[in-house]
Amino acid sequence: MELPAELRQAVERLLDGVPLATLKQASRTLSDRYRAEVRDGRLHMGDDIAAKAYLATRLPATYAAVRTSLEALADTLPDFAPTTMLDIGAGPGTVLWAATDLWTSIEAATLLEASNAARKVGQTLAASIDKPQIRWQAGDGTIDLADMPAADLVTMAYVMDEIAPASLPRLIERLWQLTAGTLLIVEPGTPAGWQRILDARTRLIAVGAAIAAPCPHHAPCPLTAPDWCHFSRRVARSRLHRLAKDADVPWEDEKFIYLAASRTPRAARPARVLAPPKAGSGKVALKLCQPAGTVSERLFTKRDGETFKAARRLDWGDVLDLESG
Ligand SMILES: C[S@@+](CC[C@H](N)C(=O)[O-])C[C@H]1O[C@@H](n2cnc3c(N)ncnc32)[C@H](O)[C@@H]1O
Repeated sequence: MELPAELRQAVERLLDGVPLATLKQASRTLSDRYRAEVRDGRLHMGDDIAAKAYLATRLPATYAAVRTSLEALADTLPDFAPTTMLDIGAGPGTVLWAATDLWTSIEAATLLEASNAARKVGQTLAASIDKPQIRWQAGDGTIDLADMPAADLVTMAYVMDEIAPASLPRLIERLWQLTAGTLLIVEPGTPAGWQRILDARTRLIAVGAAIAAPCPHHAPCPLTAPDWCHFSRRVARSRLHRLAKDADVPWEDEKFIYLAASRTPRAARPARVLAPPKAGSGKVALKLCQPAGTVSERLFTKRDGETFKAARRLDWGDVLDLESG
């Protein structure tokens, strides 16, 4: 997956003239802070160069993860057509670009972001957008949501790992109160990211949310450590991205996990593919999370007829309707 052309060009304009050595150093610092999940009271994107390093090395991957998660949500709730959105920890506007690319129905977007540098970069990138109407708001999602209006689509992508764990339960409940339609949370596809998503899931189910994706059920997650639920999306690396990271390969695989919780229960509950399919001649084995709340590897062969035909076309993260084949 690549960034939409308009966003890619806006990023290139912003990065034009930034010395490569400066970008490399800032990218290394950013990556170390994210990897170690540093919480030292400072924002990772605390200054202009850190925000630009994010554009060069993280935005393509977080965009791909967000866009894929939104697509899964749209597949599950095909009638969902948000007109308003609220994004917490918007960074450079990643979710705004992905959501408006998917839903032309969005007319107004509120983007809350704590870092002045990230907000400024986001505003510059989105300068040419005239629909939706965008309101950038400075603030801390854990304390500044009291007067926030509700929105059809509420999102928070790659933010929970920067927030003190003790603040998360209240934040999740507040986000749900602000959700008129669907709440989407995306996290890195690490065991720690999965655990944060599981905690949010438990809390959201307790307050009456319907899980739209990825789980086809509301039962406790059937996976147990060292296994964990996550998905993967291949992302093209630009030349600058490769240079900033000293990387040779022109792509990377972004691992992510997400949760979509909705006010509207979904109609169907297809099983979800939780790992890369293992295909052989005339057969395919799929690790499936199933509507009964169980996970198992199931083998489909030609004898399964239409279900086999559907199963062999699937990829990690896709769904399979076991009832209608
Ligand atoms: C990893 S970036 C993710 C940006 C964007 N959502 C994305 O997916 O690319 C996390 C963003 O959340 C912001 N952030 C962290 N804690 C926050 C808080 N308590 N309130 C508002 N924003 C916060 C950070 O400044 C940063 O811009």
